[in-house]
Amino acid sequence: MIRIAVIGGDGTGPEVVAEGLKALSAAAEKVGLDYQVKEFDINGNRYLKMGGSPDEPTIPVITDEEIEELKTFDAIYLGAVGHPDIAPGILEKGLLLRLRFELDQYVNLRPVTLYPGVPCPLAGKSPEDIDFVVVRENTEGIYTGMGGVQYKGTPQEVSTQINCTTRFGAERVIRYAFETCKKRNKKKRITLVHKTNVLTYVGQTWFNTFQQVAKEYPDIETDYNHVDACCMWFVKNPEYYDVIVTDNMFGDIITDLGAIIQGGLGVAAGGNINPKGVSMFEPIGGSAPKYTGKNVINPIAAIAAMAMLLREIGENKGDEKLKEAGNRIEEGIKATTPKMKSQSAGKMGFSTTQVGDLVADAIRSAN
Ligand code: IPM
Ligand code: MN
Repeated sequence: MIRIAVIGGDGTGPEVVAEGLKALSAAAEKVGLDYQVKEFDINGNRYLKMGGSPDEPTIPVITDEEIEELKTFDAIYLGAVGHPDIAPGILEKGLLLRLRFELDQYVNLRPVTLYPGVPCPLAGKSPEDIDFVVVRENTEGIYTGMGGVQYKGTPQEVSTQINCTTRFGAERVIRYAFETCKKRNKKKRITLVHKTNVLTYVGQTWFNTFQQVAKEYPDIETDYNHVDACCMWFVKNPEYYDVIVTDNMFGDIITDLGAIIQGGLGVAAGGNINPKGVSMFEPIGGSAPKYTGKNVINPIAAIAAMAMLLREIGENKGDEKLKEAGNRIEEGIKATTPKMKSQSAGKMGFSTTQVGDLVADAIRSAN
C-alpha cells in the first residue's frame, strides 16, 4: 500500500492532477497496486479566504500541522503554484520553496525527453537526440532567502541576495547526479554547469567538489560548461548531453529551455527528491490562469510527473510493482502523444480530460 498526498494547488493545477490520478488508477488496476490518495486544499484561494494579504505574506500558506502530516506520506503530487491576485513570491516561497526546504528535497530531477510525435522546435532533431536529465540543486544557492534590503523606497535603496553554497550541499547533489548517470547507463557522461569564470568563490566549491566525487566514478566521463555556453549547446547539440548537474538558479533557467526543446511546458515533469525522505513530483509549467477551468490545458506533464513518482519511489523502496506502474504510464504517454495535434494548450485536438482518457485507455489496453 502506498499513500500519496495530492496538492492540486492553483489555476490549472487541479485539472492536470486529476488526469494524472486517472493514469494512476488505470496502471494500478493493471499491475495490482494498492494505493491511497489524500487531497489537501492548499492554494492561493484558500490563503485569500483565510484573510491572507495579497501584497505581503501575513499568514502561512501551508500550516505547520499540514507539513507534519505531509511528512507521513510516501510521496506528494503537486499541480501548480501561482495566483494572479497574489504578489509574486508569497505562494512560491510560502508553499513550493517551503516544502522543498523543510522536506529537504535537495535534488530537483528534470528529465528532458522528446516523446514520439511531438514536434521539436530544433530543426532535424528526433527523440534519440533529446534524451538527457538535469539534476538541479534544490535547497541552496540564491533561493534560500538570505540577504535583505536597506533604505527601502529611497534613492539609497540597497539590496543583497546571497548565494548560499555549501560543500555539503554541492557534494550530496553531485553524488546523486553521478549515481543517476551510472543507473541510466547511456552515454556515461556528466556535465557540471556553472559560471566559474565570474562566480569564483561558489564556483570553486562546485568545481572542486565535482572533481573530487568524479574520482569515485572512473568510467563516467566528466565535462564542464559555463551556463551561458550550455544554453547555446542545448539548441545546437542537445544529443551531447546525458546528465547535467547544476546550481539551483542555473537549473531553474536551463530547464525551461530544456522544456521547450522537448515540446513545451505542457510536457515537462520534474521531481523534488529527498532520497531518504518524502519527495514531491510536479509538472514544471505554471498555474496558467488564462486557461483555468476551460478544459484545454495539456495534462501530459502532470501524467509524466505521476509516472516519475511511481518509478522513483519504486526504486527507493525496491518495489517492482511501483516501477512497473510508472513504466506503464510512461508507455501510455508514448502511445498518446503521436495522436495529439500539438502539445500547446487549446491546440491539442483534444480537451484536457480527453488526453487523460487516451492515456488511461492506452494503459488499460496494453499487454
Ligand atoms: C520551478 C519554478 C519555481 C522555481 C518558482 C515557482 C519558485 O520556476 O519549479 O522551476 O524557481 O524553482
Ligand atoms: Mn522554473
